[in-house]
Amino acid sequence: MADKCERIIDEFTIDRAALESVAATFRRDIKRGLEGDELSSFKMLKSYLGLPTRQEEGEYIALDFGGTNVRAALIRLRGNGQPEVVKKAARKLVGSDYSYISAATDAQGLFDFIAAVVMEVAQPGQEYRLGHTFSFPSLQDNLYNARLISWTKEFAVRGVEGEIVNDLLVQALQRRGGVKIEPVAVINDTVAVLAAAAYKYDKADIGSICGTGHNTAYLERYRDSGKAVKPMILNLECGNFDKLLTNTFDKVLDAASEKPQEQRLEKMVSGRYLGRLFYLVLCDVFDLEAKGIDFDGAELAAILSDQTMLLDKVREIVKEKLGLVLDDEAAVWVKAFAEAIVVRAARLTAATYVGIIWHMDGDACIGEHIIAIDGSLFEKMPLYAENMRKAIYELLGADSDRIKLVLENGGSSLGAAIAAAVGQNV
Ligand code: GLC
Repeated sequence: MADKCERIIDEFTIDRAALESVAATFRRDIKRGLEGDELSSFKMLKSYLGLPTRQEEGEYIALDFGGTNVRAALIRLRGNGQPEVVKKAARKLVGSDYSYISAATDAQGLFDFIAAVVMEVAQPGQEYRLGHTFSFPSLQDNLYNARLISWTKEFAVRGVEGEIVNDLLVQALQRRGGVKIEPVAVINDTVAVLAAAAYKYDKADIGSICGTGHNTAYLERYRDSGKAVKPMILNLECGNFDKLLTNTFDKVLDAASEKPQEQRLEKMVSGRYLGRLFYLVLCDVFDLEAKGIDFDGAELAAILSDQTMLLDKVREIVKEKLGLVLDDEAAVWVKAFAEAIVVRAARLTAATYVGIIWHMDGDACIGEHIIAIDGSLFEKMPLYAENMRKAIYELLGADSDRIKLVLENGGSSLGAAIAAAVGQNV
């Protein structure tokens, strides 16, 4: 058993040299993406948003769609002051007897569900502008008209791909009637997190999500373009980065996913998939037939936090989930697999941040950067944030002191309100 288990841990281990190559390849793909070269894995989607001035004020409705929950909030911006969440509402997209992410739902069903959540935060008799954080790859040529290119994260609702999502929202709001709500901006969650951080910090220029899905946006200053172009936040859609060494488990997971061959990085690093990788490893080690079972983020976190002598929690979770009784040795390996999967995710993601920083700073020395991150992995998963910092240090040495990773909790909603306030500024 030990040999096999060690081999599996090796398959999930990324050394410094491999990390460096990920960062360099990532940087090259950004350059290619900016040049419109199809070899780039990135969509380089324009947001039509630059950084906020911090003077933005007023009350806006923020809608956040694209993770486990749909959330709406009424947010008051006060220029340089602390933003205030006046009211909020949230609903899970999947419940015991319904799913608003699967092909069983169509566009109208989904947007009616979303509109109902939006209405919960609106006060009768008022008029609002709404900012919409829509966390899927969307093509737009202004701040409003984002058109969904294709679903990711295993979403499969019918009739939304190819559509302008805010038009679907407007129609759903009209069907409900009542309060006058005008959707004015659509942004990706990575763009939202960056905008939210830039509302508070000077040096924020990268925004990232490490949660159900994974993706990053950054402020492109177009320094190499030779033209006077205003800086704009670009959504890389880098969950689709595919120049990576995948192992046996990555391949099995990809083949059985909604969209094989797509979102290869995301399938190695994000919360939607880590529990699945872990399950596939356990199936292999304990000769189980793989079924549609996933461990969720909370279970993985509980396994990693188990400090008891005999790993009681690890045993309990695996017994409950798979009916498997682990002996002492097996329990140690099971925890080690979870660690290896989570640490790989953190290191790979950190390497991509270094790739972006190398792109931004070119051959000049590394400047100060704040990387704003939202998502349950960064916020809650044991080992995750610390291994990110460690990997950045491995790649940048003392320069890593100038790179700050900050948790921008709730950035998806705040960013949506800011986008509604800013309006198109590039
Ligand atoms: C997926 C989406 C992307 C989003 C990310 C995080 O990768 O394609 O748009 O930013 O998930 O939610």
